[in-house]
Amino acid sequence: MKKVNKICCIGAGYVGGPTMSVIASQCPEITVTVVDINQARIDQWNDSNLDNLPVYEPGLKEIVEKTRGKNLFFTTEVDKAIDEAEIIFISVNTPTKTYGKGKGQAADLKFVELCARNIAKIAKTDKIVVEKSTLPVRTASAIKSILENTGNGVKFEILSNPEFLAEGTAVEDLLNADRVLIGGDETPSGQEAKDTLSSIYAHWLPKERILQTNVWSSELSKLVANAFLAQRVSSINAISALCERTDANIAEVSRAIGTDSRIGSKFLNASVGFGGSCFQKDILNLVYISRSFGLNEVADYWEQVIIMNDYQKRRFAENIISTLYNTVSGKKIVFFGWAFKKDTNDTRESAAIDIADALLEEKAEIVVYDPKVSAERIYADLDYLETRSPEENRRLLTVVTNPMDAVQDAHAIAILTEWDEFKGYSWETIFTKMLKPAFVFDGRRLLSQQEMEAKGFQYYKIGQS
Ligand code: UDX
Ligand code: UDX
Repeated sequence: MKKVNKICCIGAGYVGGPTMSVIASQCPEITVTVVDINQARIDQWNDSNLDNLPVYEPGLKEIVEKTRGKNLFFTTEVDKAIDEAEIIFISVNTPTKTYGKGKGQAADLKFVELCARNIAKIAKTDKIVVEKSTLPVRTASAIKSILENTGNGVKFEILSNPEFLAEGTAVEDLLNADRVLIGGDETPSGQEAKDTLSSIYAHWLPKERILQTNVWSSELSKLVANAFLAQRVSSINAISALCERTDANIAEVSRAIGTDSRIGSKFLNASVGFGGSCFQKDILNLVYISRSFGLNEVADYWEQVIIMNDYQKRRFAENIISTLYNTVSGKKIVFFGWAFKKDTNDTRESAAIDIADALLEEKAEIVVYDPKVSAERIYADLDYLETRSPEENRRLLTVVTNPMDAVQDAHAIAILTEWDEFKGYSWETIFTKMLKPAFVFDGRRLLSQQEMEAKGFQYYKIGQS
């Protein structure tokens, strides 16, 4: 096992930032340098006002406050950090390809390759290179060939160490991980590298939670873990549609099946649909890899999870249109929530984006309130779809910072993110401000049907009639 003095992480994003902050806080004897090509993002990480950190995660700013400038550093000096480190994490974005072969499905590895080529160019001492980004299975062999064919003759060991943190609970997930997965070659030098990285996590996690595998099993496990989690959400969402037609109650069904220890109760909350940077991207990747091996039945099986998720979002929007007398043209619809889930400012693949887009196509006028997401982010999400002009998006959709302003003379409210503050609102007051009948479409099963109907609302809750 090698002694580690310096760690470098390339990519100060939602994964790289929190992960390295936790490592620095648990390993005070190790200097952790997080680098990024994006100067603005690095400036935010170095901002003296910790409320301006680029990633909002409960507990993160306290850790950054404790370690930043001591053994945790954020910089754009990529080459220097690579040169000095024994372990280099690659945590750059691997978005779904938007061009060429595998467009809309395959992972775009251009940034990962750029990182590997840069490491090969700079490194003058042996390095352990760790895949932290989610990568298609067998990427490690591509990285290995780049490093070995363009390197300065130094020795590289490639490890796969996928991240399983969920946003909104990143710090807790890192400090109290169910498991850490480390995949590497089954050679003496591969084993030594696996043990070296294990020793980092062993600073705060019990050994039995540090799993070592071959590198391919680790790469694949990450995709499969997300596919299984997303499949549970799509499965319970599929049943939510059946509940609405049969007067069954999805919460009772979830509890009835979730108490079976073989099924388990987690990830059985019916919703307007899953979002986030990973689920859809990783399943599309799994589908693409399966098809590239000619495993079409496998690909079709997993693709259904995304088809069901798109259906859940579509039927939520269609239900609003049909319930509002089959037209929402010129009607004021309030969105409570835009983030893909509570306790994060991340909106990637959020269900709210597609539902807003569908209602704007019907000429609805939408007013959005989200406690953590900026108007700039909301417009950027809509403009990215290119369904209409940015001017049209800004004419039809407005963003407010006070929810009570939003509901004045509104026809309907749609709850898209499960922020706790929505439960504490004076819904009596909201009722007085809305046009009548006052419709509420609860895509997150946040409120009580009895209470809302007692207040006079026409209340729709996903998963029950
Ligand atoms: C990343 C991966 O995208 C995802 O596949 C994996 O599941 C988790 O890690 P995330 O941290 O959420 O996800 O990405 P993002 O927040 O976009 O951060 C990536 C950072 O890498 C960005 O700040 C970007 O500027 C930086 N980057 C990208 C570099 O520093 N160098 C590059 O060459 C490319
Ligand atoms: C996910 C994985 O959980 C994490 O392990 C991986 O590293 C990255 O991807 P994240 O996307 O941050 O994390 O959020 P997660 O809590 O998994 O939620 C994903 C989506 O599913 C959200 O939109 C959430 O609202 C939705 N969801 C989750 C449901 O609709 N119902 C559920 O029961 C659980």
